[in-house]
Amino acid sequence: MSKSPEETRILGACLAPVLLPGDVVSLSGDLGAGKTVFVQGISTALGYGGRVTSPTFTLVHEYDARYPIVHLDIYRLDSFQEVLDLGFEELVGPNSIVLVEWGDAVAPLLPKRSLDVVITRSEDIDATDDRTLVFKPGAPEWLSKLDTMKTTAEALLNAASTETSGSPRFWDASASGGLGRRANEGKATGEAS
Ligand SMILES: Nc1ncnc2c1ncn2[C@@H]1O[C@H](COP(=O)(O)OP(=O)(O)OP(=O)(O)O)[C@@H](O)[C@H]1O
Ligand SMILES: [Mg+2]
Repeated sequence: MSKSPEETRILGACLAPVLLPGDVVSLSGDLGAGKTVFVQGISTALGYGGRVTSPTFTLVHEYDARYPIVHLDIYRLDSFQEVLDLGFEELVGPNSIVLVEWGDAVAPLLPKRSLDVVITRSEDIDATDDRTLVFKPGAPEWLSKLDTMKTTAEALLNAASTETSGSPRFWDASASGGLGRRANEGKATGEAS
């Protein structure tokens, strides 16, 4: 659970250290869910000092960070062919960390081992900044990476929080009815934060 854009940036920043070239993170969620904010957290933590915005019209932004980051936004593309025409297969290569906004729309084109991050806004009108992030690993290697991220994020969110109630920020979504389970996946742990 994230309660502010800053917290979503912290979550992105905590994922950053476990990302390696060749990793693909697919970001899903409605307009304004916070996909770009999450990408900002990742990019900044990987040493990119520039501005990070949705590549809605340009479709792809590349950031020169610790590893090259390819930031795609395929919202405006209507067909798989248009995505392929963009040079998608070359962009999703072994040398970069690839972050795809609206990745769910091109799921068949993404490597099966991608990490899916699904961001949902709260429906509570008193908590308009609340977001739920569900992490769906496409391969077992993500499980330990997500554990590492969770440990760092819990510490940072607690340190940054003024709340004393301490309601849990993370839970195992697959244990609570398969929220974090991914279609055609055997066992997948969803970390919600
Ligand atoms: N907890 C939160 N996490 C992320 N963003 C939040 C949160 N609470 C409020 N916001 C606001 O929601 C907006 C999220 O915008 P962002 O551009 O990241 O969305 P997006 O999912 O990338 O949308 P789009 O599909 O249009 O690119 C920002 O204005 C941000 O300040
Ligand atoms: Mg965006």
